[in-house]
Order: sequence, then structure tokens, then C-alpha cells
Amino acid sequence: MSIPLVDLQRNFSRYSDKYEEILLNVCSSCQFIMGQELRDFEKNFADFLGVKHVLGLGSGTDALTLLLKACQAEGKIVLTQNNTFIATTLAIANAGAQIALCDIDPDTYQMDIDSYDGPCPDIVLPVHLYGYPYDIEKIKAKFGSQVIIIEDACQAHGSKLNGSRCGSLGVGAAFSFYPGKNLGAFGDGGAIATNDDDIADEILALRNWGGSKKYIHDRPGGNSRLDNVQAAILDFKLKHIDEWNQSRNNNAKLYRELLKDCDEIVLPPETPDGCLQNFHLFVIRFKNISRDEVLKKLHENEIFAGIHYPVTINKQLVYKDETFANKKFPVSEELCGKILSLPMFPEMTTEEVRTVAKVLVTIIDQVK
Ligand SMILES: Cc1ncc(COP(=O)(O)O)c(C=O)c1O
Repeated sequence: MSIPLVDLQRNFSRYSDKYEEILLNVCSSCQFIMGQELRDFEKNFADFLGVKHVLGLGSGTDALTLLLKACQAEGKIVLTQNNTFIATTLAIANAGAQIALCDIDPDTYQMDIDSYDGPCPDIVLPVHLYGYPYDIEKIKAKFGSQVIIIEDACQAHGSKLNGSRCGSLGVGAAFSFYPGKNLGAFGDGGAIATNDDDIADEILALRNWGGSKKYIHDRPGGNSRLDNVQAAILDFKLKHIDEWNQSRNNNAKLYRELLKDCDEIVLPPETPDGCLQNFHLFVIRFKNISRDEVLKKLHENEIFAGIHYPVTINKQLVYKDETFANKKFPVSEELCGKILSLPMFPEMTTEEVRTVAKVLVTIIDQVK
């Protein structure tokens, strides 16, 4: 049995009639950009998150970049974590800001704000990595309530912190709708969420060549819009997101049950009461055995586990000349060599979860 990390085909097959109807509707209307579908999705996603504004954009990377620009990040220090996807830090630089990094908590893989000993940041950009909700109160306790908090919620569609959705916790949040995300489009897409009218107005202009009126451009913007085809698909998928996240949680529960007696494995953290993780990824790590050996054997058995992420930000070649390249981030640097993402998607069957767990335990016994 071959088990992929993520299988988008199954979702498409299950809803193909609906998807065909949606695509035909948008295409036959020939309203491809800034149409009713986009407005509907923006409104519905804003209601889902409990925020005033959602604005669709071209990608999660654009969402982070434009949000930082709208928060006037240029020349300022933006603090994020050392184990995120590169887009987080590229966006900081794209916005003309200075990247500051902190290490991570080994239990949650989230930002360890207390490990940071540099100058006080102007903006803090936590990442709800793997869909685990990061507690932003820690940031306020450390840097004061005036610090600007922007969430990288690109992996956290539907996750909750103390009853509130990730994406509604800071001054603004960025989402990605890359196809493999829990809420994924049929191509690239992204959005910002905010309660702040000024930030929303600024993003409206920035996504539209810096103009709020046609052919009148008062600032240097670009072209970054979520098209109506993507918006219509996302609006349909949004109706199912809680159900799909529940399936992921069921799979996570079963993985936990099947792997709990394996001494070599550290399971993902449980969330406190009132919180919800969407299990965008189910990430385990190994205590003593070689992750790469296990991964190789899993692939030989056609179980396509992955690594998120194998290289920390400070070790990326693009940053070889930055001062943080030579700084030590002991926890994230160690854990990136030990973590493994097991197959996880809503349509994954119980039998597949059992197969992954069984093969994994057998391999661990072999390599021990
Ligand atoms: C944590 C994180 N930040 C940012 C991004 C960038 O999103 P996109 O691929 O839509 O540009 C992604 C997704 O790829 C992500 O996982």
C-alpha cells in the first residue's frame, strides 16, 4: 500500500461534481478578477475567523509582505522563529525590515520568546507552525502590549487559541491557500485578516498597484489578487473546513494511541483546553535513532513521510552573510535533524494510519 504525505486527488474525486459546477459558473460568467466570488469568500472567511476584514491576495508570501508593509515595518526589527518556512523571513526582508530570530520551545516547536536576547523588536511574527496555536500572550508579557503582533497563520486554518481562531489574535494575520494547506485553492492564493480599518485600506491599495481609485496611484503597490476561480473554490471548501480538521484530529488521535508505547518517539504536543490544532502536519521526532535512516526505510515501504523543515533559517545559504548565520539556536538546530512528518490528510483511512504506525514501529525495532 502506497501512502502519500498528502493526497489531494481524493478530495477532488469526492467533490468533483461540485468543483466542476463552480468552475463552470465562474468561467461562463467571465468575471475572473475582483468579482462577487471574491467578495463572498472574503466576507465568509472573515466571519469564520471573527475579524472585520479579510482581503484575498496572490499568495501567503504576498500576504505576509503586504501586511508588514501596511504595518510600516520598513527599517524596523521583526522577530520570528528559526524553524519556519523560508517565506516568513523572505517576507520580512521584502518589506524592508530587519530579521531577528529566536529559538523554539522543544515541546511545542513554537517560538521561545525567552531565548531572545537581542534589541527589543518593533514587530513580533509568531508562526502557528504545524497548526499548533501559539499563545501570543507570551509576547505581550515579554515585550509589553504596545508591540505589534502579526500572525503567520499560513498553516493554521481553523486552529483555535482559548476559543478564538488563529488569524484573529494579533494586529493582522497572513494565510496561504497553497493547494496542500488545510484550506487549499486550485493554485496559489493567500489572504490577510485584520480588525484594523487603516491596515485593510492600505492592503486594498497595495494589492492593486497602489491605487484605491482606478488609474489614480498614490503609492508603490503591485498586483496581488486572489482570482474569482480560487475564491469560489475556497468559499465552498470553507464550509467543510471544520469537518476536515476533525478528520485530521481523529487520525492524530489514532496515531497517538498506536505510537504511545514506542519509547523512541516523541509525539506532538497536546493542546490545552479551549485550544484546537488543525494538524496541518503531524510531526514526531526520534530520541536516539537516525531520522534519516527511518525516513529512507519508510520511503522503501512506500510511506511518504516528510520533513518540515530540514534546514533552519539561520543555516539557509541565502542568509550566509547575516549576523544571525553565526549565532547558535541550539534547540531548533538539533530538532531539525530529528523531526519527521507522518502522512496526514482528512481522507486518510483508519487502515492507512494503522499501516503507517505498524511499519514505523517495525522499522524502529530494526534500526535500534
Ligand atoms: C509558515 C508558512 N509561511 C508562509 C508560507 C507561504 O505561503 P505561500 O506558499 O502561499 O506563498 C507558507 C506556505 O507555504 C508557510 O507554511
